[in-house]
Amino acid sequence: MSVVVAIGAQWGDEGKGKVIDVLAEQAKFVVRFSGGDNAGHTIVNPFGKFALQLVPSGIFYPTATCIIGNGVAVNPAVLIAEMDMLNSHGIATDTLVISDRANMIMPYHVLLDRLEEQARGGGAIGTTGKGIGPVFSDKLARYGIRFGDLLDRTAFRERLGAMLDIKNRLLTKVYGAEPLSLEGVYQQYLGYAERLAPHIQDATVLIDEAIARGDNVLLEGAQGTLLDPDFGTYPYGTSSPSVAGQGSVGAGIGPTKINRVIGVFKAYITRVGAGPMPTVLTEAVGQAMRDRGHEFGTVSGRPRNCGWFDAVAARYATLVNGLTGAAITKLDVLDTQPTVKACVAYRLDGKTIDYFPSRITDVARCEPVYEEFPGWQTPLNDVRRFADLPLKARRYLRRLAELIGAPIVLVGVGQERRQTIEVKSVW
Ligand code: IMP
Repeated sequence: MSVVVAIGAQWGDEGKGKVIDVLAEQAKFVVRFSGGDNAGHTIVNPFGKFALQLVPSGIFYPTATCIIGNGVAVNPAVLIAEMDMLNSHGIATDTLVISDRANMIMPYHVLLDRLEEQARGGGAIGTTGKGIGPVFSDKLARYGIRFGDLLDRTAFRERLGAMLDIKNRLLTKVYGAEPLSLEGVYQQYLGYAERLAPHIQDATVLIDEAIARGDNVLLEGAQGTLLDPDFGTYPYGTSSPSVAGQGSVGAGIGPTKINRVIGVFKAYITRVGAGPMPTVLTEAVGQAMRDRGHEFGTVSGRPRNCGWFDAVAARYATLVNGLTGAAITKLDVLDTQPTVKACVAYRLDGKTIDYFPSRITDVARCEPVYEEFPGWQTPLNDVRRFADLPLKARRYLRRLAELIGAPIVLVGVGQERRQTIEVKSVW
């Protein structure tokens, strides 16, 4: 039995959906523990192609109970639409659990996210516009409304009224926007309550019992380490913790219960939204990565910046997450490259450094120092065993493991579930 955390180790979009979809085969519980519908976990499996924003990526296995943990902020309308979409593909969602402690995204969160972005002007973060900053600020400011509140109509109406008092003043007086009607929002959320009430539970108890029984529990992160509010390129990041420690907080498990931490990395790196990325490629190589890797935002459709693997950032991710293993995805995207590179240090103001700076103005000035590898120039999509990879690809992966500082457990060589090389068992 194991409790395994899988997190994004770059700027999000590392292919966590696929990795979780593979690992979930042996899990009894899959728990999403952070983010909201800003995430888009892409999965291609025998049921079709899906981009899950809220439902844990283990939903395709009837053997796994999926939980949306307390660390997630949920827009109920998006969740219901996603459940309907899954049901229409024959995938059951009746055992899905929503933590009664999870915060709800309210209409004013979405409005304020967009208004705040406009107000930031040239300093805009490039958010996904889903209300993430406002909902997580409210959670910490103790203005949040949680799923548990939905189950008591009178208390919910009172709480909503108090919040709308504050938010309507903000909307109208600061931003000159229209106020929201208490009755309208109340009725809208009562409708959600009717549909979602059977799923709302105290999830911590369920997970605790699962661990006590010895079940395999998989904790599914969202976004990535470099978007984390503490460790990311602040303020150009997201508003919920995306490091492994949040696996404990966002699922309600003591940290001593976690056995393994898997960091998910692309074989290169991408970033969407504003903020610096030292290995960004503007020339044809970056364009080729974008085209071959379909590097467009799952949620927003925006083109992602692409660049070579950043081992300085990767080592930093190993450090802040305590990685015990690395999953490398999308290796096949590099199949056509005559030369493959990895950034092993930065040059900052004339000095060579091997650490990831905390100040964003420093990150923005870092220039990559590259190590080069001959490309394998062979399609990898049909390879299923590490030993069957071309020698040049194996050499690249072995060096990545050394640079990351954690063994490689899994390698992705295509979008589909079956296009996976399982190097070491995670469980
Ligand atoms: P927010 O999370 O919508 O507030 O967006 C803040 C920043 O995080 C923006 O740069 C987004 O592009 C980025 N971001 C949020 N979620 C994801 C994700 O799932 N993948 C990649 N980038 C993300």
